[in-house]
Amino acid sequence: MEMNQPVGTTPLDARPDGLVGKPIDRYEGRLKVTGRAPYAYEVREPKDPAYGFILGAGIASGRIRAMQVGAARRAPGVLYVMTHETVPPQGEKKEQVSPQLQGTEIRHFDQPIAFVVAETFEQARAAAALITVQYDTATPKASLRDALPETFKPKPAQTDPDSALGDFEGAFAAAPVKLDVEYTTPPQIHAQMEPHATIAEWRGDRLVLHTANQMLNRGQKSIAAVLAVPEDKVRLVSRYIGGGFGSKLQPQPEAILAALAARVVNRPVKVAMTRQQEFHVATHRTGTIQRVRLGADETGRLTAIAHESWSDATPGDQFFETSANVTRSLYAAPNRITRHRIANLNVPVTSAMRAPGEAVGQLAFECAMDELAERLNLDPIELRVRNEPEQDPEKQVPFTVRQLVPCMREGARLFGWEKRRAAGTRREGRWMVGLGMSAAARLNPLMPSSALVRLNPDGTLTVRMAMTDIGTGTYTILAQIAGEMMGLPVEKIRVEIGDTAYPAAAGSGGSWGAGSAGSALYVACDNLRQALLQKAGMNPEGAAFREGRAASGNRSETLADLAGPDGLEAKGEIKPGRLKEAFSHYSFGAHFAEVGVDRDTGEIRLRRMLGVFTGGRILNAKTARSQAIGGMTFGVGAALMEDAVMDPRSGTFMNRDLAEYHVPVHADIPAIDAVFLPELDDKANPLKSKGLGELGICGAGAALANAIHNATGLRIRDYPMTLDKVL
Ligand code: MOS
Repeated sequence: MEMNQPVGTTPLDARPDGLVGKPIDRYEGRLKVTGRAPYAYEVREPKDPAYGFILGAGIASGRIRAMQVGAARRAPGVLYVMTHETVPPQGEKKEQVSPQLQGTEIRHFDQPIAFVVAETFEQARAAAALITVQYDTATPKASLRDALPETFKPKPAQTDPDSALGDFEGAFAAAPVKLDVEYTTPPQIHAQMEPHATIAEWRGDRLVLHTANQMLNRGQKSIAAVLAVPEDKVRLVSRYIGGGFGSKLQPQPEAILAALAARVVNRPVKVAMTRQQEFHVATHRTGTIQRVRLGADETGRLTAIAHESWSDATPGDQFFETSANVTRSLYAAPNRITRHRIANLNVPVTSAMRAPGEAVGQLAFECAMDELAERLNLDPIELRVRNEPEQDPEKQVPFTVRQLVPCMREGARLFGWEKRRAAGTRREGRWMVGLGMSAAARLNPLMPSSALVRLNPDGTLTVRMAMTDIGTGTYTILAQIAGEMMGLPVEKIRVEIGDTAYPAAAGSGGSWGAGSAGSALYVACDNLRQALLQKAGMNPEGAAFREGRAASGNRSETLADLAGPDGLEAKGEIKPGRLKEAFSHYSFGAHFAEVGVDRDTGEIRLRRMLGVFTGGRILNAKTARSQAIGGMTFGVGAALMEDAVMDPRSGTFMNRDLAEYHVPVHADIPAIDAVFLPELDDKANPLKSKGLGELGICGAGAALANAIHNATGLRIRDYPMTLDKVL
């Protein structure tokens, strides 16, 4: 099915009390916390693996002059030492997956320069430490601020880096009320629990990779390109994943190195990155510098909006943080520009992380809106309401459904927004207390996906697709969708995902996972329903599937009988069609935060937080809420803690472990809640659902920043907002 027009009534509309939406516990959650869900590194097959260890460069810029690997080769248990001099031939870079150990040039610190394979992990690591290297060291470029004069416009990726409408400069110059502010956000690390890990095994000319990966079909393509082997010879398996947050959207160097080495040693090779390597060998989110200019008339109507963003990428890369993309769709104004520029720096590879674009873009833009509201002496919600667009202000197409204003109004009511006082005026003992809010918006893409369903002779249903579950609940919601479509309880649905041997699917990323994979499954089940009715000669008009039976007119049959001794299969496919061109498609929400700031120490404490969201049909009330509060917690981290500290002299992140790179813990999040307003988005997909995965982080940190201002009267424009910046 192709999404070109609104979906009419669907079988899911028939039962508002059905399986879809129920707060069912995550199927894989119990397996994970009891150690029964094998992660990539823990898979028992293939047998008798050797262990790999990555050696990274000790400099951030320059060349390898010489390497001495003799001692490593002779070390106990060592099977193979691979360097730029001995690495097998490779193919081409694909997206951000690069051939490894190519030449002597060093572009960033800890860039892999050798891969040691041994009988045990300890032997491989010990041997790697015996390798000595001489470098011709160059001075690294690692400061985005210093590199601003040499930033350039990156190649368009999914979107053009620039947009313009009307005459921004003229309208801004003429605006009676103006704001021109600069916000900065630091580099951030995904900090997912499960490190990157791969077991690579060659079976003849076929490669099997058990690997931690969010998007298996995309990974299959890039691995095939980098190794220069046919795509259909590469299989990726990733049944259980301990978080991704974007770092597993693409295969990372350990997967390529393991695949290359396994072919040479003719044995399976397994490798996991150390936590320190997660900071330098794996990808991270770039820091940004963002300038926001807003012009408004005295009534608070925006006449001019400009949002510019600068970020960095490793030499040779053009990935950019799309900070200003969402600004193109947020608020009405006739004159507007957005612009993205990058500098190539000697920093580790930058890539997508937790709502790439929106997350840091709204950290800047939604604070700027708060600043403008204050200049206009307007309530920040009222400012946003006055600039609510009737259609997408740049694309000039309708929104699928946009309930930003209802989210803000309901949030204000539930949170007690009327208790907000003028900035710096509310005290409780030693605490300065403030309230802040922010809008939330996250793109809701639909990605091509396909699914296979098989009704078995015993009346159970098997679902197969190359989808992944990164801890978001995919297994569970797929079972709910199939169960409701077929009239079966979830216990009768077997969901088999995480393997490119199954029909291709979107994978987990960009908040598209549930909607895209779920829609393909919906179509497959719809096709299976039709096939079953046809096989039985039953009238499809008014047919219903309930309690293990199909009923139509005066006939009712069990699914087991209809399946017959051979069972029955059906496939389904979803394609976005012209959805992207015809509509502006976002999920929306509003965040509310209350903070206390200690007037003597500057300590900032979140006191309570609420998000009100719309995500179309909610597929599972529990996993949806968990996604939302998880995203909001990321937002708290972005506002108050997360900061990968780059030493610009060495091009090295200085705080490369989870003791020094701070993310919020339970004690940091005292009271948090998320609620969803009723919505069905009949233009988004046949489920009428929208993406939620990354909506919770979008704008969340800005709500805290605005609350900090309301508490203290200070405008801090440099994230994270640590106590030294308050004092
Ligand atoms: Mo997300 S950054 O697309 O996993």
